[in-house]
Amino acid sequence: MSLEITLGNARFRNPLVLASGTFGYGQSYTDVIDRMGAFVTKGISVQERFGNPPPRIWDTAETVVNSVGLENVGLKRFTEEVLPPISLSTPLYVNLAGVTSDDFRILVESLNDNEKVAGFELNLSCPNVKEGGAALGQSARMVSEVTALARSLSAKPIWVKLTSNFCDVRETSKAAADAGADAVVLINTLNALVIDTRGRRPFLGAGSGGLSGPAIKPYVLYIIREVSRLIDIPVIASGGAVSGTDVVDYLLAGASLVQLGSVNLVDPQAGLRILEELKNYLKQEGASPACLIGKLEDK
Ligand SMILES: Cc1cc2nc3c(=O)[nH]c(=O)nc-3n(C[C@H](O)[C@H](O)[C@H](O)COP(=O)(O)O)c2cc1C
Repeated sequence: MSLEITLGNARFRNPLVLASGTFGYGQSYTDVIDRMGAFVTKGISVQERFGNPPPRIWDTAETVVNSVGLENVGLKRFTEEVLPPISLSTPLYVNLAGVTSDDFRILVESLNDNEKVAGFELNLSCPNVKEGGAALGQSARMVSEVTALARSLSAKPIWVKLTSNFCDVRETSKAAADAGADAVVLINTLNALVIDTRGRRPFLGAGSGGLSGPAIKPYVLYIIREVSRLIDIPVIASGGAVSGTDVVDYLLAGASLVQLGSVNLVDPQAGLRILEELKNYLKQEGASPACLIGKLEDK
């Protein structure tokens, strides 16, 4: 039985995608990466970033709140030092962390001709400090502008990763689709505050962070169902998947691929377990991933 998913000209051996920021740049656990459908790098910004002060992670069994702050090697070191030795059989998507349109222009122009780069994931959730901290992805107009710009510079697949914080993700998803995105990725982490009660101050070094993990799955499922019914391009789920059943739920709700994020922090081999669980389900049901997409019945 084929686990393959095809999105336009892009083929994925199965619907599992390792999510940005939870699996590094692709230098380690390559045996895991090479069994997945796709791999998304940690966010790459134009300049190297050193990230936020500690503590950066707060977690329970169901939740992770992180304030890593997009620490990364920056574009120059990424292209000159990190990418050259990487050799994967799985498509590598580079997550681009820009705060202005110009950042995205520089990032796409610099990476587009690199044969190791299968496609791009535009992270439109970074706060733009120049414009009062709002993320580009909170404005349909900005989503449209940045997506159209990236589209004009690259024929490679472009995934637009959106936030649902303080905005209508139906409108921003539609804007991405209309501007030429190949897929939208829903969603990036939710704004979150953890309090050090005794200290009467925020726990995380940055003051606040982003919520992910199993706790957000029902919320993200709802969004996937709403948006996949509204737009004509594929929707990729990102939020709380930790088992084969979670992956099936996301496919049924309308996702074409499912990203695995926080679960990798607990166990870097989790993708292999989830793949086996997915295969078992498909065998029992005599189904393929492709035939499950959007097949959620009405109540
Ligand atoms: C520690 C950590 C770092 C992350 N870094 C990035 C990043 O660099 N770029 C990005 O677009 N998303 C980043 N994310 C968000 C994840 O890719 C994913 O969208 C989110 O965690 C929701 O999925 P999950 O519940 O499966 O973790 C990060 C998440 C975590 C937990």
